[in-house]
Amino acid sequence: MDEMFPVGDPVRQAIETAQAACEAAVAKNPHYLDDTSRGNGYERAAEAHQIFRTFPHWLVQKGSTELLAKAPAKLERVVKAWRWGKPGFLAIGPTGAGKTRGIAALGRTLLYRGVEDGGDAWSRARRIIWTTANDLCEARREWRLGAGEVPAIREACNASLLFLDDMGLDRDISAVRKVLEDRYDHAVPTVSTSGLSVEELDRHYSPAVMRRLFEPGGKGGVVVDLFGGGQ
Ligand SMILES: Nc1ncnc2c1ncn2[C@@H]1O[C@H](COP(=O)(O)OP(=O)(O)OP(=O)(O)O)[C@@H](O)[C@H]1O
Ligand SMILES: [Mg+2]
Repeated sequence: MDEMFPVGDPVRQAIETAQAACEAAVAKNPHYLDDTSRGNGYERAAEAHQIFRTFPHWLVQKGSTELLAKAPAKLERVVKAWRWGKPGFLAIGPTGAGKTRGIAALGRTLLYRGVEDGGDAWSRARRIIWTTANDLCEARREWRLGAGEVPAIREACNASLLFLDDMGLDRDISAVRKVLEDRYDHAVPTVSTSGLSVEELDRHYSPAVMRRLFEPGGKGGVVVDLFGGGQ
């Protein structure tokens, strides 16, 4: 797997410089980063960095090799083998097993490849969304009644690849159910984690909702079970 932006890496340096340049450009023109005609690697790096900043803050300074170093071997294999077009997967296991780090490494690698390769790799990578089951639930709760669609839910539905961390920690399942039903209908993949077993998740979300996580477009996703060790 490629290291994503190790110290001294030219792409990382480009990001750091681009970050400052972009912040100045955005200050002058709030739509600066919306302009897709600015599609060179330098600007891709800056945008990728913005996306990675939406991942959990304690991961942001870490490269994908560093992230995967603490992920169980079983998860590392699935992460390294994942390519666009493959179905998603669900990593389950005890707290501290490295589930969040493992899937963050995948997001980071896909962003890195998008920055490097441009084209399709970039048009997909820039539509990656990171969220948690509870964030979706809270977003729906906080959205004003009658104010139309919840933006965070719409974005999660439209993501090229959705990272859905900590399934089962949402008190109201309706937001996650909506997102999974929508993504199932559009056959787009979701990579998720949970501290619960598949049986507990079935009880929490219902088997019908869980089936939508695993069979988008009829393509079966996999469960990476890290309970009892991840070798
Ligand atoms: N907030 C944090 N700040 C710094 N390091 C962390 C933090 N959270 C976790 N880590 C480190 O990353 C390792 C793997 O944690 P990770 O969060 O990926 O596990 P997890 O399987 O997602 O756990 P959980 O089910 O609690 O979300 C931990 O053992 C710890 O060393
Ligand atoms: Mg986690």
